Amino acid sequence: MNKPVPPPRLRMALIGCGQIADAHLQEAAKVDSVEVVAVCDMHMDLAKQAAARFRVPGIYDNLDRMLAEAKPDVVHITTPAHTHGPLTMKALAAGCHVYVEKPFTLDAIEAETVIAAAESAEKKLCIGHDQLFDPTWLDCRSRIAAGQIGHVRHIESTLGYPISGQFGAVVAGDPRHWVRQLPGGLFQNTISHPLYRILDLLPDLHPRVEARWDRTKYDFPTELWVQLRGAEITGSLTFSSSVYAQRVTRVYGDQGMLEVDFDAQTIRRHTAPKLPGAFGRLEMPFRQWREGARNLQRNLWRFLKCEIHYFSGMRNLMAEFYRSIQQDTEQPITNAEMLRVTRIMDEIFADCRSREERVEEFVPETRELEVVR
Ligand SMILES: NC(=O)c1ccc[n+]([C@@H]2O[C@H](COP(=O)([O-])OP(=O)(O)OC[C@H]3O[C@@H](n4cnc5c(N)ncnc54)[C@H](O)[C@@H]3O)[C@@H](O)[C@H]2O)c1
Repeated sequence: MNKPVPPPRLRMALIGCGQIADAHLQEAAKVDSVEVVAVCDMHMDLAKQAAARFRVPGIYDNLDRMLAEAKPDVVHITTPAHTHGPLTMKALAAGCHVYVEKPFTLDAIEAETVIAAAESAEKKLCIGHDQLFDPTWLDCRSRIAAGQIGHVRHIESTLGYPISGQFGAVVAGDPRHWVRQLPGGLFQNTISHPLYRILDLLPDLHPRVEARWDRTKYDFPTELWVQLRGAEITGSLTFSSSVYAQRVTRVYGDQGMLEVDFDAQTIRRHTAPKLPGAFGRLEMPFRQWREGARNLQRNLWRFLKCEIHYFSGMRNLMAEFYRSIQQDTEQPITNAEMLRVTRIMDEIFADCRSREERVEEFVPETRELEVVR
Protein backbone atom coordinates (compact mmCIF):
# COMPACT_ATOMS: atom_id res chain seq x y z
CA MET A 1 0.00 0.00 0.00
CA ASN A 2 1.30 3.51 -0.87
CA LYS A 3 2.17 5.72 2.10
CA PRO A 4 0.04 8.92 2.27
CA VAL A 5 2.00 11.89 0.89
CA PRO A 6 2.47 14.54 3.61
CA PRO A 7 1.20 18.02 2.71
CA PRO A 8 3.93 20.44 1.57
CA ARG A 9 5.72 22.25 4.38
CA LEU A 10 4.59 25.79 5.17
CA ARG A 11 7.09 28.60 4.59
CA MET A 12 7.78 30.42 7.86
CA ALA A 13 9.40 33.83 8.26
CA LEU A 14 10.17 35.58 11.54
CA ILE A 15 10.38 39.26 12.41
CA GLY A 16 12.24 40.43 15.53
CA CYS A 17 15.52 38.60 16.18
CA GLY A 18 15.78 39.34 19.92
CA GLN A 19 15.58 37.11 23.01
CA ILE A 20 12.58 34.93 22.20
CA ALA A 21 13.33 34.56 18.48
CA ASP A 22 15.87 31.81 19.16
CA ALA A 23 13.20 29.69 20.86
CA HIS A 24 10.90 30.06 17.82
CA LEU A 25 13.65 29.14 15.38
CA GLN A 26 14.85 26.26 17.54
CA GLU A 27 11.36 24.78 18.03
CA ALA A 28 10.37 25.37 14.39
CA ALA A 29 13.26 23.13 13.35
CA LYS A 30 11.58 20.27 15.25
CA VAL A 31 8.17 20.66 13.57
CA ASP A 32 7.90 18.69 10.31
CA SER A 33 5.37 21.00 8.71
CA VAL A 34 7.63 24.08 8.98
CA GLU A 35 10.32 25.34 6.63
CA VAL A 36 12.06 28.48 7.89
CA VAL A 37 12.72 30.68 4.87
CA ALA A 38 13.60 34.12 6.25
CA VAL A 39 14.34 36.26 9.28
CA CYS A 40 14.05 40.02 9.64
CA ASP A 41 15.12 42.59 12.21
CA MET A 42 15.35 46.36 12.03
CA HIS A 43 19.02 45.80 12.96
CA MET A 44 20.55 43.87 10.08
CA ASP A 45 23.35 42.47 12.24
CA LEU A 46 20.80 40.75 14.54
CA ALA A 47 19.02 39.24 11.52
CA LYS A 48 22.36 38.03 10.15
CA GLN A 49 23.35 36.47 13.46
CA ALA A 50 20.01 34.65 13.85
CA ALA A 51 20.21 33.42 10.25
CA ALA A 52 23.73 32.11 10.85
CA ARG A 53 22.72 30.33 14.09
CA PHE A 54 19.75 28.57 12.49
CA ARG A 55 20.88 28.36 8.84
CA VAL A 56 18.08 30.53 7.48
CA PRO A 57 18.50 31.50 3.81
CA GLY A 58 16.61 34.82 3.72
CA ILE A 59 17.95 37.79 5.72
CA TYR A 60 16.13 41.14 5.83
CA ASP A 61 15.93 44.41 7.73
CA ASN A 62 12.64 45.40 6.12
CA LEU A 63 9.35 43.55 6.55
CA ASP A 64 7.79 44.67 3.24
CA ARG A 65 10.75 43.37 1.29
CA MET A 66 10.76 40.09 3.20
CA LEU A 67 7.05 39.57 2.54
CA ALA A 68 7.45 40.36 -1.17
CA GLU A 69 10.59 38.30 -1.79
CA ALA A 70 10.46 35.37 0.65
CA LYS A 71 6.69 34.88 0.18
CA PRO A 72 6.09 33.18 3.55
CA ASP A 73 2.84 31.34 4.36
CA VAL A 74 3.22 32.12 8.07
CA VAL A 75 4.91 35.06 9.81
CA HIS A 76 6.08 34.83 13.43
CA ILE A 77 6.12 38.19 15.18
CA THR A 78 8.64 38.30 18.02
CA THR A 79 9.09 42.06 18.30
CA PRO A 80 8.16 44.32 21.26
CA ALA A 81 4.49 44.36 22.26
CA HIS A 82 3.62 47.82 20.88
CA THR A 83 4.61 46.69 17.36
CA HIS A 84 2.53 43.47 17.35
CA GLY A 85 -0.67 45.10 16.05
CA PRO A 86 0.79 47.05 13.08
CA LEU A 87 3.14 44.22 12.04
CA THR A 88 0.36 41.61 12.21
CA MET A 89 -1.83 43.83 10.02
CA LYS A 90 0.97 44.06 7.43
CA ALA A 91 1.52 40.30 7.39
CA LEU A 92 -2.22 39.64 7.06
CA ALA A 93 -2.45 42.14 4.21
CA ALA A 94 0.30 40.18 2.43
CA GLY A 95 -1.83 37.01 2.70
CA CYS A 96 0.03 35.36 5.59
CA HIS A 97 -1.15 33.52 8.68
CA VAL A 98 0.38 35.00 11.83
CA TYR A 99 1.84 33.61 15.05
CA VAL A 100 2.31 36.59 17.34
CA GLU A 101 4.08 36.53 20.69
CA LYS A 102 2.23 37.50 23.84
CA PRO A 103 0.90 40.03 24.73
CA PHE A 104 -1.30 39.94 21.64
CA THR A 105 -1.62 43.69 21.14
CA LEU A 106 -1.28 46.95 23.06
CA ASP A 107 -4.95 46.84 24.13
CA ALA A 108 -8.33 45.30 23.34
CA ILE A 109 -9.26 47.99 20.79
CA GLU A 110 -6.22 47.09 18.72
CA ALA A 111 -6.95 43.37 19.26
CA GLU A 112 -10.45 43.81 17.79
CA THR A 113 -9.02 45.53 14.69
CA VAL A 114 -6.44 42.78 14.14
CA ILE A 115 -8.98 39.98 14.61
CA ALA A 116 -11.44 41.65 12.22
CA ALA A 117 -8.66 41.91 9.60
CA ALA A 118 -7.71 38.23 10.03
CA GLU A 119 -11.31 37.12 9.75
CA SER A 120 -11.99 39.15 6.63
CA ALA A 121 -8.73 37.86 5.05
CA GLU A 122 -9.65 34.29 6.16
CA LYS A 123 -6.23 33.89 7.75
CA LYS A 124 -5.42 32.18 11.03
CA LEU A 125 -3.88 33.77 14.11
CA CYS A 126 -1.93 32.24 16.95
CA ILE A 127 -0.91 33.91 20.20
CA GLY A 128 2.18 32.78 22.15
CA HIS A 129 0.23 31.24 25.06
CA ASP A 130 2.66 28.35 24.82
CA GLN A 131 2.48 27.14 28.43
CA LEU A 132 -1.07 25.89 27.78
CA PHE A 133 0.57 23.28 25.56
CA ASP A 134 3.37 22.41 28.00
CA PRO A 135 3.23 18.64 28.77
CA THR A 136 2.80 19.39 32.51
CA TRP A 137 -0.21 21.67 31.91
CA LEU A 138 -1.74 19.17 29.47
CA ASP A 139 -1.33 16.50 32.16
CA CYS A 140 -3.00 18.80 34.71
CA ARG A 141 -5.92 19.36 32.32
CA SER A 142 -6.41 15.63 31.78
CA ARG A 143 -6.28 14.96 35.54
CA ILE A 144 -8.96 17.61 36.09
CA ALA A 145 -11.06 16.03 33.32
CA ALA A 146 -10.62 12.64 35.04
CA GLY A 147 -12.15 14.14 38.20
CA GLN A 148 -9.01 14.03 40.38
CA ILE A 149 -9.90 17.24 42.24
CA GLY A 150 -13.66 17.47 41.64
CA HIS A 151 -15.00 20.77 40.29
CA VAL A 152 -12.43 23.54 39.84
CA ARG A 153 -13.20 26.42 42.21
CA HIS A 154 -10.06 28.56 42.40
CA ILE A 155 -6.79 28.99 40.51
CA GLU A 156 -3.75 30.67 41.98
CA SER A 157 -0.82 31.69 39.76
CA THR A 158 2.47 33.06 41.00
CA LEU A 159 5.23 34.53 38.92
CA GLY A 160 8.57 35.18 40.59
CA TYR A 161 10.50 37.62 38.41
CA PRO A 162 13.63 38.89 40.17
CA ILE A 163 14.17 42.43 38.99
CA SER A 164 17.89 41.98 39.52
CA GLY A 165 17.88 38.93 37.22
CA GLN A 166 19.02 38.60 33.63
CA PHE A 167 15.92 40.17 32.02
CA GLY A 168 14.63 42.36 34.85
CA ALA A 169 17.92 44.23 35.19
CA VAL A 170 17.85 45.33 31.53
CA VAL A 171 14.37 46.82 32.00
CA ALA A 172 15.13 48.36 35.40
CA GLY A 173 18.37 49.92 34.17
CA ASP A 174 16.87 51.72 31.17
CA PRO A 175 13.97 54.16 31.74
CA ARG A 176 13.42 54.29 27.97
CA HIS A 177 13.24 50.51 27.54
CA TRP A 178 10.18 49.57 25.42
CA VAL A 179 8.75 47.50 28.28
CA ARG A 180 8.61 50.62 30.51
CA GLN A 181 6.60 52.48 27.82
CA LEU A 182 3.74 49.91 27.72
CA PRO A 183 0.41 50.96 29.33
CA GLY A 184 0.83 48.10 31.83
CA GLY A 185 4.62 48.54 32.04
CA LEU A 186 6.65 45.54 33.19
CA PHE A 187 3.47 43.55 33.88
CA GLN A 188 2.11 43.87 30.37
CA ASN A 189 5.17 42.06 29.11
CA THR A 190 5.21 39.39 31.81
CA ILE A 191 1.80 38.49 33.26
CA SER A 192 0.30 36.88 30.15
CA HIS A 193 1.60 33.44 31.17
CA PRO A 194 0.29 33.33 34.76
CA LEU A 195 -2.94 35.09 33.68
CA TYR A 196 -3.87 32.81 30.77
CA ARG A 197 -3.15 29.78 32.97
CA ILE A 198 -5.90 31.04 35.29
CA LEU A 199 -8.25 32.02 32.47
CA ASP A 200 -7.85 28.63 30.80
CA LEU A 201 -9.93 27.27 33.70
CA LEU A 202 -12.01 30.38 34.48
CA PRO A 203 -14.37 30.71 31.52
CA ASP A 204 -16.29 33.90 32.35
CA LEU A 205 -16.30 36.54 29.65
CA HIS A 206 -16.33 39.36 32.21
CA PRO A 207 -15.02 38.21 35.60
CA ARG A 208 -14.86 40.91 38.27
CA VAL A 209 -11.32 42.29 38.36
CA GLU A 210 -9.61 43.86 41.36
CA ALA A 211 -5.95 44.70 41.00
CA ARG A 212 -3.26 46.70 42.72
CA TRP A 213 0.33 47.37 41.83
CA ASP A 214 3.09 48.75 43.99
CA ARG A 215 6.62 50.07 43.78
CA THR A 216 9.64 48.93 45.74
CA LYS A 217 12.90 50.81 45.33
CA TYR A 218 12.29 51.54 41.63
CA ASP A 219 10.41 54.45 40.10
CA PHE A 220 8.00 52.12 38.30
CA PRO A 221 5.63 49.45 39.66
CA THR A 222 7.29 46.10 40.24
CA GLU A 223 4.74 44.20 42.37
CA LEU A 224 1.22 43.17 41.35
CA TRP A 225 -1.75 41.46 42.98
CA VAL A 226 -4.88 40.53 41.00
CA GLN A 227 -8.17 38.98 42.14
CA LEU A 228 -10.59 37.60 39.54
CA ARG A 229 -14.15 36.60 40.36
CA GLY A 230 -16.23 34.55 37.92
CA ALA A 231 -19.72 33.14 38.51
CA GLU A 232 -18.40 29.89 39.97
CA ILE A 233 -14.62 30.12 39.86
CA THR A 234 -12.17 32.64 41.29
CA GLY A 235 -8.54 33.31 40.52
CA SER A 236 -5.61 35.14 42.06
CA LEU A 237 -2.37 36.23 40.48
CA THR A 238 0.75 37.37 42.27
CA PHE A 239 3.72 38.92 40.52
CA SER A 240 6.70 39.46 42.77
CA SER A 241 10.01 40.96 41.75
CA SER A 242 11.61 40.04 45.06
CA VAL A 243 11.12 36.26 45.16
CA TYR A 244 13.19 33.75 43.23
CA ALA A 245 12.28 33.02 39.61
CA GLN A 246 9.43 30.53 39.53
CA ARG A 247 6.33 29.60 37.58
CA VAL A 248 3.77 27.79 39.70
CA THR A 249 0.00 27.44 39.39
CA ARG A 250 -2.29 25.78 41.93
CA VAL A 251 -5.70 24.56 40.85
CA TYR A 252 -8.13 24.07 43.75
CA GLY A 253 -11.16 21.85 43.32
CA ASP A 254 -13.94 20.95 45.76
CA GLN A 255 -12.17 17.62 46.35
CA GLY A 256 -8.48 18.38 46.07
CA MET A 257 -5.72 20.55 44.67
CA LEU A 258 -3.14 20.16 41.90
CA GLU A 259 0.09 22.15 42.02
CA VAL A 260 1.77 22.55 38.64
CA ASP A 261 5.43 23.57 38.70
CA PHE A 262 6.53 24.47 35.18
CA ASP A 263 10.21 24.69 36.09
CA ALA A 264 10.37 21.35 37.90
CA GLN A 265 7.93 19.86 35.36
CA THR A 266 6.01 18.24 38.20
CA ILE A 267 2.45 18.02 39.45
CA ARG A 268 1.62 17.52 43.11
CA ARG A 269 -1.85 16.40 44.13
CA HIS A 270 -3.29 17.23 47.50
CA THR A 271 -6.45 15.66 48.86
CA ALA A 272 -7.75 15.14 52.39
CA PRO A 273 -6.30 12.08 54.22
CA LYS A 274 -8.38 8.91 54.19
CA LEU A 275 -7.03 7.68 57.53
CA PRO A 276 -8.31 9.27 60.75
CA GLY A 277 -6.44 11.53 63.19
CA ALA A 278 -2.74 10.91 63.70
CA PHE A 279 -2.71 8.13 61.07
CA GLY A 280 -3.50 10.80 58.50
CA ARG A 281 -0.24 12.56 59.46
CA LEU A 282 1.59 9.43 58.35
CA GLU A 283 -0.55 8.87 55.26
CA MET A 284 0.06 12.39 53.89
CA PRO A 285 3.89 12.40 53.91
CA PHE A 286 3.85 8.81 52.61
CA ARG A 287 1.67 9.89 49.68
CA GLN A 288 3.93 12.90 49.03
CA TRP A 289 6.98 10.65 49.07
CA ARG A 290 5.35 8.21 46.61
CA GLU A 291 4.25 11.05 44.34
CA GLY A 292 7.77 12.56 44.44
CA ALA A 293 9.19 9.19 43.38
CA ARG A 294 6.69 8.98 40.51
CA ASN A 295 7.57 12.52 39.35
CA LEU A 296 11.27 11.65 39.49
CA GLN A 297 10.74 8.45 37.50
CA ARG A 298 8.67 10.31 34.88
CA ASN A 299 11.22 13.11 34.46
CA LEU A 300 14.10 10.64 34.36
CA TRP A 301 12.37 8.76 31.55
CA ARG A 302 11.67 12.01 29.65
CA PHE A 303 15.28 13.09 30.24
CA LEU A 304 16.62 9.84 28.78
CA LYS A 305 14.39 10.31 25.74
CA CYS A 306 15.58 13.98 25.45
CA GLU A 307 12.01 15.17 25.98
CA ILE A 308 12.57 17.80 28.68
CA HIS A 309 12.75 21.19 27.03
CA TYR A 310 11.91 24.63 28.41
CA PHE A 311 9.90 25.44 25.25
CA SER A 312 8.11 22.09 24.67
CA GLY A 313 4.84 23.98 24.97
CA MET A 314 5.86 26.32 22.16
CA ARG A 315 6.72 23.40 19.90
CA ASN A 316 3.38 21.70 20.62
CA LEU A 317 1.48 24.95 20.03
CA MET A 318 3.38 25.59 16.80
CA ALA A 319 2.67 22.06 15.54
CA GLU A 320 -1.05 22.47 16.33
CA PHE A 321 -1.19 25.87 14.65
CA TYR A 322 0.49 24.67 11.47
CA ARG A 323 -1.77 21.59 11.43
CA SER A 324 -4.83 23.83 11.72
CA ILE A 325 -3.60 25.76 8.65
CA GLN A 326 -2.84 22.66 6.61
CA GLN A 327 -6.12 20.97 7.47
CA ASP A 328 -8.17 24.17 7.69
CA THR A 329 -9.43 23.28 11.17
CA GLU A 330 -9.98 25.45 14.24
CA GLN A 331 -6.98 27.39 15.59
CA PRO A 332 -5.47 25.97 18.80
CA ILE A 333 -6.32 29.27 20.54
CA THR A 334 -9.45 31.01 19.32
CA ASN A 335 -9.64 34.68 18.38
CA ALA A 336 -12.32 35.10 21.06
CA GLU A 337 -9.88 33.85 23.71
CA MET A 338 -7.10 36.20 22.54
CA LEU A 339 -9.55 39.09 22.83
CA ARG A 340 -10.86 37.99 26.25
CA VAL A 341 -7.35 37.74 27.73
CA THR A 342 -6.40 41.14 26.26
CA ARG A 343 -9.58 42.76 27.65
CA ILE A 344 -9.02 41.35 31.12
CA MET A 345 -5.43 42.55 31.01
CA ASP A 346 -6.65 46.06 30.12
CA GLU A 347 -9.04 45.94 33.09
CA ILE A 348 -6.22 44.87 35.42
CA PHE A 349 -4.05 47.85 34.44
CA ALA A 350 -7.00 50.28 34.50
CA ASP A 351 -7.87 49.16 38.04
CA CYS A 352 -4.24 49.47 39.17
CA ARG A 353 -4.01 52.99 37.74
CA SER A 354 -7.28 54.13 39.30
CA ARG A 355 -6.25 52.83 42.73
CA GLU A 356 -2.87 54.57 42.41
CA GLU A 357 -4.60 57.84 41.49
CA ARG A 358 -6.91 57.53 44.50
CA VAL A 359 -3.93 56.94 46.80
CA GLU A 360 -2.11 59.94 45.33
CA GLU A 361 -5.18 62.14 45.89
CA PHE A 362 -5.30 60.97 49.50
CA VAL A 363 -1.66 61.70 50.36
CA PRO A 364 -1.81 65.56 50.65
CA GLU A 365 -4.66 65.32 53.19
CA THR A 366 -2.61 63.03 55.45
CA ARG A 367 0.33 65.40 55.15
CA GLU A 368 -1.93 68.30 56.24
CA LEU A 369 -3.06 66.29 59.25
CA GLU A 370 0.56 65.69 60.19
CA VAL A 371 1.28 69.43 60.02
CA VAL A 372 -1.72 70.27 62.24
CA ARG A 373 -0.59 67.71 64.79
N1 LIG B 1 6.70 33.12 25.15
C1 LIG B 1 7.65 33.49 25.99
O1 LIG B 1 7.98 32.79 26.94
C2 LIG B 1 8.32 34.83 25.77
C3 LIG B 1 9.57 35.07 26.37
C4 LIG B 1 10.19 36.30 26.14
C5 LIG B 1 9.57 37.27 25.36
N2 LIG B 1 8.33 37.02 24.83
C6 LIG B 1 7.64 38.06 24.04
O2 LIG B 1 8.30 38.22 22.79
C7 LIG B 1 8.26 39.59 22.38
C8 LIG B 1 9.69 40.06 22.15
O3 LIG B 1 10.38 40.01 23.36
P1 LIG B 1 11.99 39.91 23.42
O4 LIG B 1 12.32 39.81 24.85
O5 LIG B 1 12.46 38.87 22.50
O6 LIG B 1 12.36 41.37 22.88
P2 LIG B 1 13.79 41.90 22.43
O7 LIG B 1 13.79 43.36 22.71
O8 LIG B 1 14.88 41.04 22.96
O9 LIG B 1 13.77 41.67 20.84
C9 LIG B 1 12.92 42.36 19.98
C10 LIG B 1 13.61 42.43 18.63
O10 LIG B 1 12.69 43.01 17.70
C11 LIG B 1 13.40 43.94 16.88
N3 LIG B 1 12.40 44.92 16.40
C12 LIG B 1 11.72 45.82 17.11
N4 LIG B 1 10.85 46.49 16.33
C13 LIG B 1 10.99 46.00 15.08
C14 LIG B 1 10.39 46.29 13.82
N5 LIG B 1 9.43 47.20 13.72
N6 LIG B 1 10.82 45.62 12.75
C15 LIG B 1 11.80 44.68 12.84
N7 LIG B 1 12.41 44.36 14.01
C16 LIG B 1 12.00 45.01 15.10
C17 LIG B 1 14.46 44.53 17.79
O11 LIG B 1 15.53 45.07 17.05
C18 LIG B 1 14.85 43.31 18.63
O12 LIG B 1 15.93 42.61 18.04
C19 LIG B 1 7.54 40.35 23.50
O13 LIG B 1 6.21 40.53 23.15
C20 LIG B 1 7.68 39.43 24.70
O14 LIG B 1 6.63 39.56 25.63
C21 LIG B 1 7.72 35.81 25.00
